[in-house]
Amino acid sequence: MINAKTKLCCIIGNPVEHSKSPLMHNAAYKALGLNFAFLAFRVTDVKNALEGLRAIDARGIVVTIPHKQEVMNYVDEVDETARQIGAVNTIVNENGILRATNTDWTGAMRALKEKTEITGKIAAVLGAGGAARAIIYGLKKESAQSILIFNRTIKNAQKLAQEFAITGGYSLENEDMIKQADIVINTTSVGMEPHEGVSPISENIIHKDHVVFDIVYTPRETKLLQLGKKKSATIVHGDKMLLYGAIAQFELFTGQKAPQKVMEDALC
Ligand code: ATR
Repeated sequence: MINAKTKLCCIIGNPVEHSKSPLMHNAAYKALGLNFAFLAFRVTDVKNALEGLRAIDARGIVVTIPHKQEVMNYVDEVDETARQIGAVNTIVNENGILRATNTDWTGAMRALKEKTEITGKIAAVLGAGGAARAIIYGLKKESAQSILIFNRTIKNAQKLAQEFAITGGYSLENEDMIKQADIVINTTSVGMEPHEGVSPISENIIHKDHVVFDIVYTPRETKLLQLGKKKSATIVHGDKMLLYGAIAQFELFTGQKAPQKVMEDALC
């Protein structure tokens, strides 16, 4: 029941109406009987939104597109992880001090590790935007043998490779190299609704020894994952990254172990 002692957590973004965060977090509060509530706020004025949330003593803030970089200017502390990734998706309010971190990489690596070892593997990352940064950070942490970035615009891939001191940046058309990788991760928006039915790579380079991970989760089974399934590759769904990222956030906000099954059911 919501009362005068209820602690507020929320997600800020624009748009935000599609977010699954309120469903997952509120279901978990209910299951554990925690006096918390989670709301979604469509925000354009990030600075004032954060000041307002600080003033009303909101406990936790999930940050989504397009504010993941901008919020870094208005929090009190950005941890080393978020600094290296260059984006914040989680803010915890500790007695008025806003501490920012990033759980995108933890969510992605946990989803991947359910299906494969990462240590010693060759990973092909498709895309060189914000999401790719969190994935590359995670792959480095998990000691992938080499990380190769493939992108529509080669110079963006090369820049990212240089920044993270990894193997290299290449064109998405370099499909022979993608074929050699153990793990293929799509971080581009290719295949996302309303443009489902498109894959960022060709069917003929996907094979049974590939682990194919698509961080796109609308639709749940993207064209890339369908092709992976068809070729008997191991596939990893993007909604697992979402789930495990939310679990990490729930635990930071409440200090309690998250009820995984409850949160997973709330995603469906
Ligand atoms: P996010 O923060 O979600 O990663 P982003 O920073 O805008 O979003 O990055 C989008 C990524 O998807 C980029 O790597 C982009 O490639 P470019 O660097 O060439 O722009 C890639 N991308 C977007 N639409 C694409 C398309 N139709 N085909 C191939 N790559 C695409």
